Amino acid sequence: MINDQASSLRRKMEQINNSKKHAKTISVVSGKGGVGKSNFTLNFALKLSEQKKSVLIIDLDIGMGNIDILLGLQAKYSIVQMYENSLSIQDIIEEGPNSISYIAAGSGLSKIFTMNEAMLNYFLDEFSTITSDFDYIFFDMGAGASDDSLSFILATDECIVVTTPEPTAMMDAYAMIKHIHQKNPNLPFYLLINRASSIEEGKRVIQKLQKVSEHFLAKSITALGVLPYDKKVAKAVIAQVPFTLYDPQALASRTIAQLVNQYLTNTINIDKKAPSSFISKLKRLSQFN
Ligand SMILES: Nc1ncnc2c1ncn2[C@@H]1O[C@H](COP(=O)(O)OP(=O)(O)OP(=O)(O)O)[C@@H](O)[C@H]1O
Ligand SMILES: [Mg+2]
Repeated sequence: MINDQASSLRRKMEQINNSKKHAKTISVVSGKGGVGKSNFTLNFALKLSEQKKSVLIIDLDIGMGNIDILLGLQAKYSIVQMYENSLSIQDIIEEGPNSISYIAAGSGLSKIFTMNEAMLNYFLDEFSTITSDFDYIFFDMGAGASDDSLSFILATDECIVVTTPEPTAMMDAYAMIKHIHQKNPNLPFYLLINRASSIEEGKRVIQKLQKVSEHFLAKSITALGVLPYDKKVAKAVIAQVPFTLYDPQALASRTIAQLVNQYLTNTINIDKKAPSSFISKLKRLSQFN
Protein backbone atom coordinates (compact mmCIF):
# COMPACT_ATOMS: atom_id res chain seq x y z
CA MET A 1 0.00 0.00 0.00
CA ILE A 2 2.72 2.42 1.05
CA ASN A 3 4.75 1.37 -2.00
CA ASP A 4 1.76 2.07 -4.22
CA GLN A 5 1.46 5.54 -2.75
CA ALA A 6 5.15 6.23 -3.11
CA SER A 7 5.21 5.18 -6.74
CA SER A 8 2.12 7.19 -7.55
CA LEU A 9 3.76 10.21 -5.93
CA ARG A 10 6.91 9.63 -7.95
CA ARG A 11 4.86 9.51 -11.14
CA LYS A 12 3.23 12.78 -10.13
CA MET A 13 6.61 14.36 -9.50
CA GLU A 14 7.84 13.27 -12.90
CA GLN A 15 4.85 14.92 -14.49
CA ILE A 16 5.58 18.09 -12.56
CA ASN A 17 9.21 18.08 -13.60
CA ASN A 18 8.22 17.62 -17.21
CA SER A 19 5.83 20.53 -17.34
CA LYS A 20 7.21 23.93 -18.30
CA LYS A 21 6.20 26.39 -15.63
CA HIS A 22 6.31 25.98 -11.87
CA ALA A 23 5.19 28.27 -9.14
CA LYS A 24 7.79 29.58 -6.78
CA THR A 25 6.73 28.42 -3.33
CA ILE A 26 7.30 30.86 -0.48
CA SER A 27 6.68 30.31 3.21
CA VAL A 28 6.01 33.36 5.39
CA VAL A 29 7.04 32.68 8.98
CA SER A 30 7.76 34.39 12.28
CA GLY A 31 8.96 33.42 15.72
CA LYS A 32 6.56 35.65 17.64
CA GLY A 33 2.90 35.82 16.69
CA GLY A 34 1.02 38.88 15.49
CA VAL A 35 3.97 40.54 13.77
CA GLY A 36 2.08 41.02 10.51
CA LYS A 37 2.66 37.88 8.43
CA SER A 38 -0.87 37.59 7.10
CA ASN A 39 -1.24 41.27 6.29
CA PHE A 40 2.12 41.28 4.59
CA THR A 41 1.42 38.10 2.60
CA LEU A 42 -1.97 39.27 1.42
CA ASN A 43 -0.87 42.74 0.36
CA PHE A 44 2.41 41.56 -1.16
CA ALA A 45 0.36 39.04 -3.17
CA LEU A 46 -2.07 41.74 -4.29
CA LYS A 47 0.76 43.94 -5.51
CA LEU A 48 2.42 41.00 -7.29
CA SER A 49 -0.88 40.39 -8.99
CA GLU A 50 -0.94 44.02 -10.18
CA GLN A 51 2.38 43.19 -11.82
CA LYS A 52 0.60 40.49 -13.83
CA LYS A 53 1.79 37.63 -11.63
CA SER A 54 -0.65 34.88 -10.79
CA VAL A 55 -0.62 34.25 -7.07
CA LEU A 56 -2.13 31.71 -4.71
CA ILE A 57 -2.11 32.09 -0.93
CA ILE A 58 -2.56 28.95 1.14
CA ASP A 59 -3.50 29.81 4.69
CA LEU A 60 -1.76 27.27 6.90
CA ASP A 61 -2.31 29.03 10.21
CA ILE A 62 -3.51 25.99 12.08
CA GLY A 63 -7.06 26.39 13.29
CA MET A 64 -6.72 30.18 13.30
CA GLY A 65 -6.53 31.07 9.65
CA ASN A 66 -7.64 34.56 8.82
CA ILE A 67 -6.87 35.38 5.19
CA ASP A 68 -10.58 35.22 4.39
CA ILE A 69 -11.35 37.50 7.34
CA LEU A 70 -8.75 40.03 6.19
CA LEU A 71 -10.39 39.91 2.76
CA GLY A 72 -13.89 40.33 4.17
CA LEU A 73 -14.87 37.17 2.30
CA GLN A 74 -16.33 33.89 3.38
CA ALA A 75 -14.58 30.90 1.89
CA LYS A 76 -16.95 28.20 0.73
CA TYR A 77 -14.45 25.45 1.40
CA SER A 78 -11.17 24.94 3.22
CA ILE A 79 -8.39 22.36 3.28
CA VAL A 80 -10.26 20.50 6.00
CA GLN A 81 -13.26 20.12 3.71
CA MET A 82 -11.00 18.89 0.95
CA TYR A 83 -10.38 15.83 3.09
CA GLU A 84 -13.81 15.50 4.60
CA ASN A 85 -15.63 15.74 1.28
CA SER A 86 -12.90 14.28 -0.97
CA LEU A 87 -12.77 17.50 -2.97
CA SER A 88 -10.09 18.40 -5.44
CA ILE A 89 -7.77 21.28 -4.66
CA GLN A 90 -9.39 23.21 -7.51
CA ASP A 91 -12.69 22.97 -5.63
CA ILE A 92 -11.31 24.76 -2.59
CA ILE A 93 -9.43 27.56 -4.36
CA GLU A 94 -11.30 30.80 -3.83
CA GLU A 95 -11.07 33.95 -5.86
CA GLY A 96 -10.01 37.16 -4.13
CA PRO A 97 -9.57 40.75 -5.32
CA ASN A 98 -7.07 41.55 -8.13
CA SER A 99 -7.63 37.95 -9.32
CA ILE A 100 -5.52 36.51 -6.52
CA SER A 101 -6.50 33.03 -5.40
CA TYR A 102 -6.53 31.72 -1.88
CA ILE A 103 -7.22 28.58 0.10
CA ALA A 104 -8.70 29.08 3.55
CA ALA A 105 -7.24 27.34 6.58
CA GLY A 106 -10.54 26.13 7.92
CA SER A 107 -11.15 24.97 11.43
CA GLY A 108 -9.54 21.84 12.80
CA LEU A 109 -6.68 22.22 10.38
CA SER A 110 -4.34 20.80 12.98
CA LYS A 111 -5.37 17.43 11.56
CA ILE A 112 -3.43 18.12 8.41
CA PHE A 113 -0.20 18.36 10.31
CA THR A 114 -0.60 15.06 12.02
CA MET A 115 -1.80 13.45 8.88
CA ASN A 116 -0.85 10.00 7.87
CA GLU A 117 0.99 9.14 4.71
CA ALA A 118 -2.18 8.69 2.69
CA MET A 119 -3.38 12.15 3.66
CA LEU A 120 -0.07 13.78 2.85
CA ASN A 121 0.00 12.02 -0.49
CA TYR A 122 -3.52 13.22 -1.15
CA PHE A 123 -2.48 16.80 -0.43
CA LEU A 124 0.67 16.49 -2.54
CA ASP A 125 -1.20 14.81 -5.37
CA GLU A 126 -3.70 17.63 -5.38
CA PHE A 127 -1.05 20.29 -4.89
CA SER A 128 0.96 18.96 -7.82
CA THR A 129 -1.97 19.60 -10.15
CA ILE A 130 -1.87 23.34 -9.54
CA THR A 131 1.82 24.22 -9.40
CA SER A 132 1.86 25.13 -13.07
CA ASP A 133 -1.19 27.38 -12.70
CA PHE A 134 0.59 30.05 -10.65
CA ASP A 135 3.74 32.12 -10.62
CA TYR A 136 3.86 32.30 -6.82
CA ILE A 137 2.34 30.18 -4.09
CA PHE A 138 2.55 31.64 -0.57
CA PHE A 139 2.17 29.60 2.58
CA ASP A 140 0.96 31.89 5.35
CA MET A 141 2.15 29.99 8.42
CA GLY A 142 1.19 30.25 12.04
CA ALA A 143 3.78 31.72 14.41
CA GLY A 144 6.64 29.42 15.45
CA ALA A 145 7.13 25.98 14.02
CA SER A 146 5.59 22.68 14.93
CA ASP A 147 7.29 19.60 13.48
CA ASP A 148 4.63 19.33 10.84
CA SER A 149 4.50 22.95 9.75
CA LEU A 150 8.29 22.84 9.62
CA SER A 151 8.02 20.19 6.91
CA PHE A 152 6.09 22.63 4.74
CA ILE A 153 8.51 25.48 5.44
CA LEU A 154 11.53 23.34 4.61
CA ALA A 155 10.01 22.23 1.33
CA THR A 156 9.38 25.73 -0.01
CA ASP A 157 11.75 27.51 -2.39
CA GLU A 158 12.12 30.59 -0.20
CA CYS A 159 11.30 31.59 3.35
CA ILE A 160 10.31 35.11 4.34
CA VAL A 161 10.88 35.77 8.03
CA VAL A 162 8.80 38.61 9.45
CA THR A 163 9.67 40.43 12.66
CA THR A 164 9.00 43.75 14.31
CA PRO A 165 11.91 45.77 15.77
CA GLU A 166 11.00 44.69 19.32
CA PRO A 167 13.89 42.77 20.88
CA THR A 168 11.56 39.93 21.88
CA ALA A 169 10.31 39.51 18.31
CA MET A 170 13.87 39.76 16.97
CA MET A 171 15.09 37.07 19.33
CA ASP A 172 12.25 34.81 18.29
CA ALA A 173 12.92 35.54 14.62
CA TYR A 174 16.55 34.55 15.08
CA ALA A 175 15.54 31.38 16.93
CA MET A 176 13.25 30.54 14.04
CA ILE A 177 15.96 31.17 11.45
CA LYS A 178 18.35 28.98 13.41
CA HIS A 179 15.81 26.20 13.78
CA ILE A 180 14.96 26.17 10.07
CA HIS A 181 18.58 26.62 8.98
CA GLN A 182 19.69 23.62 11.03
CA LYS A 183 17.20 21.45 9.17
CA ASN A 184 17.82 22.90 5.73
CA PRO A 185 20.99 25.01 5.35
CA ASN A 186 20.21 25.69 1.67
CA LEU A 187 16.88 27.41 2.13
CA PRO A 188 17.14 31.08 1.09
CA PHE A 189 15.88 33.48 3.75
CA TYR A 190 14.40 36.90 3.20
CA LEU A 191 13.89 39.26 6.10
CA LEU A 192 11.02 41.70 6.45
CA ILE A 193 10.91 44.18 9.31
CA ASN A 194 7.33 45.24 9.95
CA ARG A 195 5.90 48.03 12.09
CA ALA A 196 9.18 49.94 12.08
CA SER A 197 8.96 53.48 13.44
CA SER A 198 11.35 54.56 10.68
CA ILE A 199 13.13 53.01 7.74
CA GLU A 200 16.42 53.64 9.56
CA GLU A 201 15.24 51.69 12.58
CA GLY A 202 14.18 48.83 10.31
CA LYS A 203 17.52 48.83 8.54
CA ARG A 204 19.36 48.64 11.85
CA VAL A 205 17.28 45.59 12.79
CA ILE A 206 18.05 43.94 9.46
CA GLN A 207 21.76 44.57 9.91
CA LYS A 208 21.72 43.13 13.42
CA LEU A 209 19.95 39.96 12.36
CA GLN A 210 22.14 39.58 9.29
CA LYS A 211 25.26 39.95 11.42
CA VAL A 212 24.12 37.45 14.04
CA SER A 213 23.11 34.91 11.39
CA GLU A 214 26.37 35.29 9.53
CA HIS A 215 28.42 35.06 12.71
CA PHE A 216 26.71 32.15 14.44
CA LEU A 217 25.18 30.25 11.54
CA ALA A 218 27.41 31.29 8.63
CA LYS A 219 24.16 32.05 6.86
CA SER A 220 23.57 35.18 4.85
CA ILE A 221 20.06 36.53 4.79
CA THR A 222 18.62 38.74 2.09
CA ALA A 223 16.91 41.94 3.19
CA LEU A 224 13.42 42.01 1.72
CA GLY A 225 12.83 45.40 3.25
CA VAL A 226 11.21 47.50 5.94
CA LEU A 227 7.49 48.10 6.27
CA PRO A 228 6.77 51.09 8.50
CA TYR A 229 4.16 51.29 11.20
CA ASP A 230 1.04 52.76 9.63
CA LYS A 231 -2.21 53.18 11.53
CA LYS A 232 -4.09 52.72 8.26
CA VAL A 233 -3.16 49.01 8.46
CA ALA A 234 -5.21 48.53 11.63
CA LYS A 235 -8.07 50.55 10.12
CA ALA A 236 -8.01 48.37 7.02
CA VAL A 237 -8.05 45.21 9.16
CA ILE A 238 -11.14 46.50 10.97
CA ALA A 239 -12.77 47.38 7.64
CA GLN A 240 -11.82 43.88 6.41
CA VAL A 241 -10.22 45.32 3.30
CA PRO A 242 -6.53 44.67 2.48
CA PHE A 243 -4.64 47.87 3.26
CA THR A 244 -3.27 48.29 -0.27
CA LEU A 245 -6.87 48.42 -1.51
CA TYR A 246 -8.24 50.33 1.49
CA ASP A 247 -5.82 53.18 0.87
CA PRO A 248 -3.39 52.70 -2.02
CA GLN A 249 -1.66 55.97 -1.08
CA ALA A 250 -1.05 55.00 2.55
CA LEU A 251 2.61 54.75 3.52
CA ALA A 252 2.36 50.98 4.06
CA SER A 253 0.70 50.52 0.64
CA ARG A 254 3.28 52.55 -1.22
CA THR A 255 6.07 50.74 0.59
CA ILE A 256 4.69 47.29 -0.25
CA ALA A 257 4.54 48.32 -3.91
CA GLN A 258 8.22 49.30 -3.75
CA LEU A 259 9.15 46.04 -2.02
CA VAL A 260 7.39 44.03 -4.73
CA ASN A 261 9.26 45.92 -7.44
CA GLN A 262 12.57 45.32 -5.71
CA TYR A 263 11.74 41.69 -5.14
CA LEU A 264 10.81 41.16 -8.78
CA THR A 265 13.88 42.86 -10.15
CA ASN A 266 16.12 40.68 -7.98
CA THR A 267 14.30 37.49 -8.81
CA ILE A 268 15.41 34.99 -11.40
CA ASN A 269 12.92 34.71 -14.22
CA ILE A 270 10.38 32.16 -13.07
CA ASP A 271 10.30 30.32 -16.39
CA LYS A 272 14.01 29.73 -16.30
CA LYS A 273 13.89 28.40 -12.78
CA ALA A 274 14.60 24.76 -12.11
CA PRO A 275 11.45 22.72 -11.62
CA SER A 276 9.86 23.23 -8.25
CA SER A 277 11.20 20.81 -5.77
CA PHE A 278 8.47 21.48 -3.23
CA ILE A 279 6.81 18.11 -3.57
CA SER A 280 9.96 16.03 -3.46
CA LYS A 281 11.42 18.01 -0.56
CA LEU A 282 8.24 17.86 1.47
CA LYS A 283 8.03 14.17 0.89
CA ARG A 284 11.63 13.61 1.89
CA LEU A 285 11.73 15.97 4.85
CA SER A 286 8.51 14.98 6.50
CA GLN A 287 8.90 11.23 6.27
CA PHE A 288 6.17 11.18 8.88
CA ASN A 289 8.62 11.89 11.64
N1 LIG B 1 2.72 47.87 9.25
C1 LIG B 1 1.80 47.87 10.23
N2 LIG B 1 1.44 49.04 10.84
C2 LIG B 1 0.54 49.04 11.82
N3 LIG B 1 -0.08 47.95 12.28
C3 LIG B 1 0.22 46.77 11.73
C4 LIG B 1 1.16 46.66 10.66
N4 LIG B 1 1.25 45.35 10.30
C5 LIG B 1 0.40 44.68 11.10
N5 LIG B 1 -0.24 45.51 11.96
C6 LIG B 1 -1.20 45.15 13.00
O1 LIG B 1 -0.84 43.88 13.52
C7 LIG B 1 -1.97 43.03 13.55
C8 LIG B 1 -1.54 41.59 13.34
O2 LIG B 1 -1.19 41.41 11.99
P1 LIG B 1 -1.30 39.97 11.29
O3 LIG B 1 -2.57 39.31 11.61
O4 LIG B 1 -0.96 40.18 9.87
O5 LIG B 1 -0.10 39.23 12.04
P2 LIG B 1 0.33 37.70 11.95
O6 LIG B 1 1.80 37.65 12.10
O7 LIG B 1 -0.25 37.08 10.73
O8 LIG B 1 -0.37 37.09 13.23
P3 LIG B 1 -0.47 35.52 13.63
O9 LIG B 1 0.87 35.15 14.21
O10 LIG B 1 -1.57 35.50 14.64
O11 LIG B 1 -0.78 34.78 12.37
C9 LIG B 1 -2.91 43.57 12.48
O12 LIG B 1 -4.24 43.27 12.79
C10 LIG B 1 -2.62 45.05 12.48
O13 LIG B 1 -3.49 45.70 13.39
MG1 LIG C 1 -1.43 35.31 10.47
